[in-house]
Amino acid sequence: MKAHDGLLPPLKSGGRHFLDLHSVAAEELRKIIDDAKAQKAARAHLPKGAADPDLSFQGELLAMIFEKPSTRTRVSFDVGMRQLGGQSLVLSGQDMQLGRGESVPDTALVLNRYVDAIMIRTNEHKNLLEMAENAEVPVINGLTDDSHPCQIMADVMTFEEHQGQITGKRLCWTGDGNNVSHSFMEAAALFGFSLTLACPETLDPSPRFLNWARAQGGDVTIERDVDKAVEGADAVIADTWFSMGDTSTTRESRHNQLAPYQVTARLMDQANDSAIFLHCLPAHRGEEATTEVMEGPQSVIFDEAENRLHVQKSIIRWCLGVI
Ligand code: CP
Ligand code: NVA
Repeated sequence: MKAHDGLLPPLKSGGRHFLDLHSVAAEELRKIIDDAKAQKAARAHLPKGAADPDLSFQGELLAMIFEKPSTRTRVSFDVGMRQLGGQSLVLSGQDMQLGRGESVPDTALVLNRYVDAIMIRTNEHKNLLEMAENAEVPVINGLTDDSHPCQIMADVMTFEEHQGQITGKRLCWTGDGNNVSHSFMEAAALFGFSLTLACPETLDPSPRFLNWARAQGGDVTIERDVDKAVEGADAVIADTWFSMGDTSTTRESRHNQLAPYQVTARLMDQANDSAIFLHCLPAHRGEEATTEVMEGPQSVIFDEAENRLHVQKSIIRWCLGVI
């Protein structure tokens, strides 16, 4: 059985992996979002380092492996584990034996003996799947070259805080058809919103994700004309023009391809009056979006960053069988 089909046998520990949105049932994703909203409200007045009123864990350990840089994912998972009553270990892939050739399966078999869950940010998606196939504890996708499901869970939560239920709404992605756009396409099918991706043909998202979303009945469209793409949108979304590790082209060439897709105040004016602006961060002001948009009244980018914390705590609670 293969992890990417979501068909791995149940973990002996009773836990569950969080590998991609398509490997989790839609009603389970909804349960995680609703739990995150409730848990966020329950600790609204507590200091950030204080334990949750409903303490989920008693010292459970999360290992986090980073083969790429991170600010939000690293800090939000670490703070989240503390609030839940657990602890975390931050491991740099380069400083582990993994960095000098120890296999992913052996790394998983060793970590099984030390920790209760593993989060991994890696380049090749197959490393995540190999980790899951060999781990007896839940494995969480903290971003790969293919996808970033934790980010999109935070985006759905943030959208709903500002715009109400996401089902039936219209969202527009602009720019590179990258890992984050792939998870957005899965979310469109699973949460039932319409998604238009405005990208140049050279930077289309992977057909694998597009076909999966459409096969599930997802309303996902690719549109070359960015002005058309944002018409009627309840949210406009941008991401960096260069994802981590992307050395496929020069800055000048990427700029030439993506400059027409930059999110400007003029473009935001073509969307719905109440539209919000989303960006997973880190941002490059003046490239994928102007400073005016990033810092403008429609931007909810720091709510989005905060919600990484709340939603990931609920993902961990789900993985470890608390919800
Ligand atoms: N959005 C996001 O995943 O940020 P980091 O790369 O800082 O973790
Ligand atoms: N697409 C970006 C997301 C960063 C959180 C990247 O992979 O670098």
